[in-house]
Formats: sequence, C-alpha cells, structure tokens
Amino acid sequence: MPSDTTGFWTPVALSADLPAGTVIPARTPAGSVALWRSEAGRLAASADRCPHRGMRLSHGFVRGEALSCIYHGWSYAQAGNCLRIPAHPGLTPPETIRVAIHEVAEADGVIWVAAGVPASKPPRLDGLTPLRSLTVLAGKDAIETAAGGKTSPDGLVETAAGAGGVWLLAADDGQTLVHVLVRDDAGTKDRIAASRAAESLRRRAENLQREGIVQ
Ligand code: FES
Repeated sequence: MPSDTTGFWTPVALSADLPAGTVIPARTPAGSVALWRSEAGRLAASADRCPHRGMRLSHGFVRGEALSCIYHGWSYAQAGNCLRIPAHPGLTPPETIRVAIHEVAEADGVIWVAAGVPASKPPRLDGLTPLRSLTVLAGKDAIETAAGGKTSPDGLVETAAGAGGVWLLAADDGQTLVHVLVRDDAGTKDRIAASRAAESLRRRAENLQREGIVQ
C-alpha cells in the first residue's frame, strides 16, 4: 500500500503514461492488473489474467471500448463481461465468463486503483504536477532513509530542500513505484533537478537495501 492512511488506493501510473486505446501492466496489493483506457478515454483496471487460458491481459490490445486477449482474441468490456469469442462469432458469451475488475480513479494526473471497496476517494495532490515515474528496487523504509523524510498520510515523501521534487510512493513486495511530482510553478531547471534527485535517491535507497542497512 502507498501508506496506511490512503486506505485502499494505490497510485499505479501517471495519466500521461496511458493514452487512449492502450493497456499497461500495473501492480497493486490485490495482484497484477491490466490497466487500460478505451478509445473513448474511459479507464478500467482488469485482473491481469484471461479467464480462458490465463494469458496476461496486459499483453493484449484495446479496440474501441473493449480489451482483447492477445492469445485467442476473447474480448472484455470495462465491466468485466466477455463480449466476443472470435472462434464462435455467432455465440453470445455467457455472463459467467468474466474477468475481475477493480475500482479505478484518476485525479491530478495520477491513476489510482483500489484493492477492495474504498471508503473514500484517493487523496488530492493540490499544487503538484506529475513529472515521471520510476521503479526503485527497495522498500519504503530505505526510500525514506535515503530521502531523509517520512511518508505523509497521503503517501508523499518530501525530498531535500532545493531538490524541487516530491515523491508519491506505491510500495509492493520489496520494490517501490515512485512518481516524481513537482510544484505547479516549477520551471525547466526545477524539473531537471527533481528528475536528477529522483535518480540519485534511487541509487542511495537501493544501496541501503542491498547492504542490509535498511530493509
Ligand atoms: S487465453 Fe485469452 S483468449 Fe485464450
């Protein structure tokens, strides 16, 4: 989970990394999901396993408002029901063929997926703009130590003064997806500094974890 107080929501990706008509894999405490955006722009988070033979749906493709499996082409609606089985074009797929779905939300340029039924909306990131995401092969403790700060209730870690960046964390099983955010009024120099600070913090956090100083 990104933090104890963001409840069930995990910040899985930046909006800019999921254009209309695409699908990407994402990790949540509830398992892998196929995160996809229909050609009309609607978001969905489906379990990353096709009900037919188990192929990863994140390897599939989006056509119109459906996600199709790359293996035999079964396609699924955003509600999870199977829409079409190409080998049986005249068949209306039974309602029992479904892929599990998760609640998904998008705000302030960040996409969140719920690992259950959330009691509230994801936290807002007022005054911040997403810059980029990177995966750190270290847990949250190592990242906090490297950053010299603690995670806020909204899952944010402030970097050192002057670095011009804030991190939004989604920790999972020894690795952490970090979204680098900058203040809305950050200029080009601040953005470059924030990106470099993120790379530097990644190296420090991974060293701390590798050397067993912080788990
Ligand atoms: S495994 Fe997905 S359609 Fe066959």
